[in-house]
Amino acid sequence: MYTDRGKEMYIELLKKAILFEIWQEHEQDLLVGWFVKREMPADPEKKRMGEIWPKFAHSMVGRMRMDNLQMCMETVLNENIEGDFIETGVWRGGACIFMCGFLKVHGIEDRKVWLADSFQGLPAPNEIKYPRDKGAGFHTFDYLRVSLEQVQGNFQKYDLLDGNVRFLQGWFKDTLPIAPIDKLAILRLDGDLYESTMDSLTNLYDKVSKGGFIIIDDYALPTCEPAVTDFRRERNITEPLIRIDNHAVYWRKLKD
Ligand SMILES: C[S@@+](CC[C@H](N)C(=O)[O-])C[C@H]1O[C@@H](n2cnc3c(N)ncnc32)[C@H](O)[C@@H]1O
Repeated sequence: MYTDRGKEMYIELLKKAILFEIWQEHEQDLLVGWFVKREMPADPEKKRMGEIWPKFAHSMVGRMRMDNLQMCMETVLNENIEGDFIETGVWRGGACIFMCGFLKVHGIEDRKVWLADSFQGLPAPNEIKYPRDKGAGFHTFDYLRVSLEQVQGNFQKYDLLDGNVRFLQGWFKDTLPIAPIDKLAILRLDGDLYESTMDSLTNLYDKVSKGGFIIIDDYALPTCEPAVTDFRRERNITEPLIRIDNHAVYWRKLKD
């Protein structure tokens, strides 16, 4: 069995690898290419804050959000909060690879990690049903399209693809209502749009155990924040939102 120090060292190295921190000087920021087609050396501070579109890292969430995910998972284990972990919007799969490695190094085999994604990028905005998504152009970016095979390949690179990793392929509106998930301890949302955020909350929030975590990666986006605000108001959710960095927030479900 691993020592506690050995576990800590594996987890730290895993985060460094997923975030491409070890080879930091070679990372490129493709977000600057939204308007101009070019690659720029990544600014390390922006990368830490998850404010770039990395060329190489397996996750774009940055160090602060990855550390937050670790804190949530540690709390769940320490306090025996029941349930699986899910991310809705996985891109290259890095945050979920981290969840799997974390569970594996702790010898946990009775929790699954669910990955919900179209594996073909974002949907075009449904402006009639979700006016807040009007004008959003995420669906036009090939950069945000990562296939199921690519994500599974990334898991294999870390030797973390096994039966506890479950893929929900398709649009959230189709996959989440019928997902065979019983309970969740961590619900991590990263789908950028109002529609994607609302579909995730509507279909999965009631499965989150008391003491579980809801993490909203995209809270700074004008498409995402209103969905969170509307859902919390409709459901009378009063647990405080806690800021992670300039982009993301989370809250802890304190009542059933
Ligand atoms: C910003 S990326 C996620 C980043 C990722 N969490 C990471 O660790 O780097 C957004 C992802 O959400 C997916 N997505 C967004 N809305 C979706 C929807 N309604 N249905 C299915 N997939 C969706 C996209 O395909 C894309 O992979």
